[in-house]
Amino acid sequence: MIRKLVLKLWEADTVVSVVFTLLYPIVRVFAPPKKLIGPYVKNGQVVADLGCATGYYAIALADSVGTEGKVYAVDKNKKSIRLLEKKAEKGGYRNIEAHASSAADLGFIEDQSVDFVFASGLL
Ligand SMILES: C[S@@+](CC[C@H](N)C(=O)[O-])C[C@H]1O[C@@H](n2cnc3c(N)ncnc32)[C@H](O)[C@@H]1O
Repeated sequence: MIRKLVLKLWEADTVVSVVFTLLYPIVRVFAPPKKLIGPYVKNGQVVADLGCATGYYAIALADSVGTEGKVYAVDKNKKSIRLLEKKAEKGGYRNIEAHASSAADLGFIEDQSVDFVFASGLL
């Protein structure tokens, strides 16, 4: 009952996703997303964030690849993708292409077109 209510309020499909969301403010202080991805991602690259949720890392990736680059943000949870799309629109991130899809079905990404794949907390 409580689990169902929490999942509904957070628009999440697993408790793990809710816990991740609650921990983001702490994680942001001790392990800023840009510091984590910084060594791997460069301006102009095409990257994929599999299991992006609402975009904690996808936004940082979008900042790193810049307007010449592109981020494929993929999550099987449609609500998360909708929230990410809203965030991207509000923040003016035109370099994020969000897809509600399983990470096992990436037919919308052209073969050998991605420079870096980020997958954190994916099942
Ligand atoms: C624990 S959250 C992690 C979110 C984010 N990557 C992070 O590290 O903060 C896991 C996310 O992966 C998504 N997910 C899990 N398995 C997936 C799959 N096979 N394909 C696409 N998304 C998946 C869930 O919907 C959830 O949003």
